[in-house]
Amino acid sequence: MRFSRVGCQAALLAAAGSLASATTFKNGTYDYIVVGGGPAGIITAERFVEAGKSVLLLEQGTGPTVATGANETLSWNDNLTSIDLPGLSADVGSLDVWDEYLCTDTVGYAACVLGGGVTINYMVFVHPPEHDFDDNNNWPEGWKWKDLKPAAERLYKRNPGTILPSADGKYYDQGLYKVLSKFLRKLGWTSVNMITQPNEKYQVYSHPAWNVQDQKRAGPVRTYLPLAQKSNKFTLSLHTKVLRVVRSGSQITGVELQTASGETEIVSVADNGRVILAGGALATPRLLFNSGIGPKKQIETAKKAGISVPPQEEWINLPVGVGLKDHPIFTILAKTDGDFGVPDYESILNGSDTKDIDLYEKGDGILTQGKHRLTFFSSNELNGQTRYYQGSCAPNADSVLDITTYMTHGLTSSGVLGIDENQKTVFEQSPYLQTADDRKAARMFIKSLVDDFNKPNSGFELETYTNVSSIIATLSPGMHYTTTAKLGNDDGRDNGTSVVDINTKVYGTDNLYIVDGSIHPDLPTGNIQTTIMVIAEAAAARILAQK
Ligand SMILES: Cc1cc2nc3c(=O)[nH]c(=O)nc-3n(C[C@H](O)[C@H](O)[C@H](O)COP(=O)(O)OP(=O)(O)OC[C@H]3O[C@@H](n4cnc5c(N)ncnc54)[C@H](O)[C@@H]3O)c2cc1C
Ligand SMILES: *[C@@H]1O[C@H](CO)[C@@H](O)[C@H](O)[C@H]1NC(C)=O
Ligand SMILES: *[C@@H]1O[C@H](CO)[C@@H](O)[C@H](O)[C@H]1NC(C)=O
Ligand SMILES: *[C@@H]1O[C@H](CO)[C@@H](O)[C@H](O)[C@H]1NC(C)=O
Ligand SMILES: *[C@@H]1O[C@H](CO)[C@@H](O)[C@H](O)[C@H]1NC(C)=O
Ligand SMILES: *[C@@H]1O[C@H](CO)[C@@H](O)[C@H](O)[C@H]1NC(C)=O
Ligand SMILES: *[C@@H]1O[C@H](CO)[C@@H](O)[C@H](O)[C@H]1NC(C)=O
Repeated sequence: MRFSRVGCQAALLAAAGSLASATTFKNGTYDYIVVGGGPAGIITAERFVEAGKSVLLLEQGTGPTVATGANETLSWNDNLTSIDLPGLSADVGSLDVWDEYLCTDTVGYAACVLGGGVTINYMVFVHPPEHDFDDNNNWPEGWKWKDLKPAAERLYKRNPGTILPSADGKYYDQGLYKVLSKFLRKLGWTSVNMITQPNEKYQVYSHPAWNVQDQKRAGPVRTYLPLAQKSNKFTLSLHTKVLRVVRSGSQITGVELQTASGETEIVSVADNGRVILAGGALATPRLLFNSGIGPKKQIETAKKAGISVPPQEEWINLPVGVGLKDHPIFTILAKTDGDFGVPDYESILNGSDTKDIDLYEKGDGILTQGKHRLTFFSSNELNGQTRYYQGSCAPNADSVLDITTYMTHGLTSSGVLGIDENQKTVFEQSPYLQTADDRKAARMFIKSLVDDFNKPNSGFELETYTNVSSIIATLSPGMHYTTTAKLGNDDGRDNGTSVVDINTKVYGTDNLYIVDGSIHPDLPTGNIQTTIMVIAEAAAARILAQK
């Protein structure tokens, strides 16, 4: 009963969408079925097509760009939707599409739209430093920087990111950058270019790097998908939600999915074909539980929800969901003597801000830029462990600075992701500040910033959260979830911690792979999307190399 209600909701959602999906699948002909059209799914699907494979990419959400079927364009430009315009990304949470695109079937924050989180995120694009992969043993041999560098180069060739998006080569609205860079310089911090100097992560600041290309939001929907769509071996089906993989023991034979009209169907993969999961770190575990892969308790809950999980003797006991990580965010607000404010988003949307819109039509101006005006990085040491921090700095009000302060690579906390009887993923244990040393290190870092702001004549005065405890209490999710189906050599069926092997294949299966944030064994030093894309490039190559 519950099962058919889910189907009904899917049908309603599909009717509200903007693109009819391909409903006739060429059963049994796909070499690869890729589940999830986020960054990891699009990148891997495109690389499989390039290798001559026949590929079906299944995405439950709608297309967010004109090229992918969206018809709600800006009042002053028929070719662009609100998510395309970099200048509106800062206010994405107020756009009409926010509620439409945000997932309702996961805990935390994820986007259920073609392009996944990259379609609605703040476009912060941090090229990962080498140490993210090399400074501890969390990434196994085969996944160190020397192995990943070619994958990063492939990505940067197509989707490099930029710190200077305006066609005229000028930075716009620099009041915040001026006061904050001056402050940091006085403290002895160094100015870097975070794209060309990605390894510099101690007491440095940069103009922000954005996922922008040709003055539009970039990302795989724009930089990879059109390449795949040139091939007749590629099929994209939107409004199509996969419920589980269908398997006979260790062999995956296809997927069970729900079409736009709410019908369920089984689509088979070709003989020797493969199924690739790319639903994101908060959703891929559901696909595994529903397929009889994971802790017994979670599989039993999936069964209670009406999913046709395989018979118990075929369950594969792996620690899916265990080890969930995310960056915690702490918010710092400070009044400054700088000359800056928040753009008037309403007048950008309704077209009355003709000054900025005219500039944008020439490829220039503030609307080519994202939310932040300065990004800083630093680290601290505690009991032999280095923890990194990122500050994403944006205007909050006239002359008021908002620092989104992330604790990043090196943190030692993790949580557990599970599922409830409505098929929604849940936190069984929060990933945030679970260890005493993380709590202590966070306080140390925040205290150093507070002390610097509180120095006489600093030019900054803390607002709203005026001491370390109140800043720590602002804790909110970084939305950079990882490690719910960890990659590694220690097979989870034998007491290990890993769910996929170093070729990204799920232990105990012959042909099921995972390529999204779930498999990352560790968090990066900065915002994660660039790393997600690098790892997807590397995973595609690994998978294709498996005969
Ligand atoms: C609001 C927000 C802001 C962010 N800001 C930034 C930022 O500024 N910079 C940054 O680097 N990172 C940011 N992130 C994080 C970044 O966007 C994500 O880490 C990244 O998108 C994850 O990529 P993924 O491919 O692993 O999964 P996702 O992006 O989650 O993509 C998964 C896709 O699979 C689809 N899917 C899932 N399950 C199924 C199923 N069963 N059937 C069919 N389709 C399915 C989903 O609809 C989705 O399209 C932000 C994230 C959010 C949510
Ligand atoms: C936009 O697309 C939706 C869904 O396909 C459709 O119902 C609607 O009529 C379209 N609107 C316009 C203005 O074309
Ligand atoms: C939209 O795109 C078309 C075709 O590329 C172009 O001719 C037109 O000028 C564009 N419109 C705007 C408002 O940019
Ligand atoms: C595809 O083939 C499988 C058997 O391999 C069958 O169960 C399923 O119904 C078929 N699906 C469609 C849509 O024809
Ligand atoms: C657009 O929004 C601005 C700011 O809210 C408002 O002042 C203006 O009247 C609006 N213009 C139109 C045409 O709606
Ligand atoms: C920190 O500030 C909060 C209010 O913002 C206040 O309630 C609290 O007592 C302060 N704590 C300390 C240690 O000063
Ligand atoms: C797994 O770990 C448990 C608890 O640490 C231990 O009792 C058990 O013997 C281990 N099993 C294997 C196969 O290593």
